[in-house]
Amino acid sequence: MSHIQVRDDQGVRIISFNRPEKRNAFNLEMYQQLTEYLIQGEADNDIRAFMFHGTDDCFTSGNDIVDFLQSGALDDNHPTVKFLFCLLDLKKPVVAAVTGAAVGIGTTLLLHCDLVYADNKAKFQMPFVNLALVPEAASSILLPSIVGQHKAAELILLGDAFDAETAAQLNLINRVVAPDELISFSLAQAKKLAAQPPLSMQASKQLLRHNQAQVKAQMKLELVQFTKRLQSDEAKQRFRAFLNK
Ligand code: COA
Repeated sequence: MSHIQVRDDQGVRIISFNRPEKRNAFNLEMYQQLTEYLIQGEADNDIRAFMFHGTDDCFTSGNDIVDFLQSGALDDNHPTVKFLFCLLDLKKPVVAAVTGAAVGIGTTLLLHCDLVYADNKAKFQMPFVNLALVPEAASSILLPSIVGQHKAAELILLGDAFDAETAAQLNLINRVVAPDELISFSLAQAKKLAAQPPLSMQASKQLLRHNQAQVKAQMKLELVQFTKRLQSDEAKQRFRAFLNK
């Protein structure tokens, strides 16, 4: 079974991460599929919104650490890079429903979503420095703009995990929802977005995200640093330590 599943429901393209044995860690094939489903959805006039969710107890544990260990340069053709720029450029709105772990890109991709809901089992973390890496997905510019410089430093430089209540207080998510209502509520919100006039929706999203050129430039800068850090001995030691427990 594919690790990325997709279904369309009343104008919403629902994309789910489904690799539970690895806590939905994103491998290269998953990034490729995610990008394809998003590009198809952008081109399809019947699709008017996207929704992301994980499995019953996990959003995603982030990038596959095995791939980090084997990674070459993060150039424009790399599946992760293609996914990040595709997400950044999406014209249609995106909703995310988060339960369980949302680690690394599991948290930073939420900065590109328009509405984010989580239940009280959600746990967010950006352990980039802990893994001897640097922040990605433009989180180094988006996060300070949402939570302030000092809080962003705490979340990135210390990389501590935080719960949904904290995420809501920091304005990183819209609302904490009861676990048994997370998917239905998030989907209902996505359907509301899908029912809005589509051109107005897209123009409004663009206006709200008016600094995309700056965000894109920062994402590129991050990728240069990220590639360097990925090759470093200190990072490789951290990856091996995780994989060897
Ligand atoms: N990449 C590759 N494999 C991963 C992974 C990842 N990001 N996250 C989890 N896995 C694998 C584990 O190696 C383990 O594999 P195994 O059963 O073959 O040993 C399996 O998924 C289960 O993970 P485990 O850590 O035992 O589950 P848990 O429920 O105790 O903890 C997490 C879940 C998400 C908190 C924990 O797995 C974790 O911290 N993952 C790493 C997250 C990370 O650093 N991501 C990169 C951020 S930049």
